[in-house]
Amino acid sequence: MNYQWYPGHMTKAKRMMQENIKLIDVIIELVDARIPFSSRNPDIDELGRNKSRIILLNKSDLADESCNKEWLDHFEAQGAYVLEVNSKSGAGVKQVQGKVQEACREKLERDRKRGIVNRPVRAMVVGIPNVGKSTFINSFAGKACTKTGNKPGVTRGKQWIRLQKNLELLDTPGILWPRFENQEVGMHLAFIGSMNDEIIVMEELACDLLGRLSRLYPGVVPRRYQIEASGGQAELLAQIAESRKCYLKGENLNLEKAAGILLDDFRSGRLGRITLERP
Ligand code: G4P
Repeated sequence: MNYQWYPGHMTKAKRMMQENIKLIDVIIELVDARIPFSSRNPDIDELGRNKSRIILLNKSDLADESCNKEWLDHFEAQGAYVLEVNSKSGAGVKQVQGKVQEACREKLERDRKRGIVNRPVRAMVVGIPNVGKSTFINSFAGKACTKTGNKPGVTRGKQWIRLQKNLELLDTPGILWPRFENQEVGMHLAFIGSMNDEIIVMEELACDLLGRLSRLYPGVVPRRYQIEASGGQAELLAQIAESRKCYLKGENLNLEKAAGILLDDFRSGRLGRITLERP
């Protein structure tokens, strides 16, 4: 299978990023805690150099707790400010404000020395499609926020959300293009649903996922579908189809339907908390 993101989209996204990044002090980068490597943009370090950075392990509720800790330590060791969050429930989101101040401490200090006080820190949320940017902004900004309109010096049309007096957030997130490094990265993005499912052969994807799961979390699939963990991936998918009574006309198994069930169960967390990548 060939996983793709169109070059045209990438050029446009890159231009937007370069334009917006000039306006901000700190980048709040969302990654998917289930695949923190594959869901990171490969060019963000270059694009965001000289800016403070916060990495949020979003959808941490769907990822393995011990792996969340490992990734948190890993990114912190690289010098980033890191938090686990669940933007959907709001867990961990309150701590982001504090992290922003921490990440911008040097800058605030510099401002103070120059006699600039009370200039709010400006932040922008970035991440690949579907990582949870809008959900996070809604949760972080909440209802209490006030939108500040156009201001002198701000590119026309940009909206800032004021969060308390010392922080402003650009209301539109920066969309980043995913990595294209190799097929494994593409596959992981497809597992979590961040690839257009239309271009994907679901049965193949499901078999690949079964392969990963039997290596990383061997008990999970047999337990969920009440099947024996015997045979290869195709055999396992057939067993899931039988167990879930997925039939075409007659006795033929509907493997596509079974694949859909498996992927849906994985994506929604019904298979349990699973992380597919280790630091
Ligand atoms: P984007 O702006 O980065 O493209 O992502 P968006 O906020 O639209 O979120 C994509 C999906 O991820 C949404 O699900 C959203 O609810 C879900 N999501 C975001 N953050 C979290 C999180 O921390 N944990 C979990 N479990 N889910 C999260 P959806 O299926 O598109 O919508 P809905 O059915 O949840 O409304």
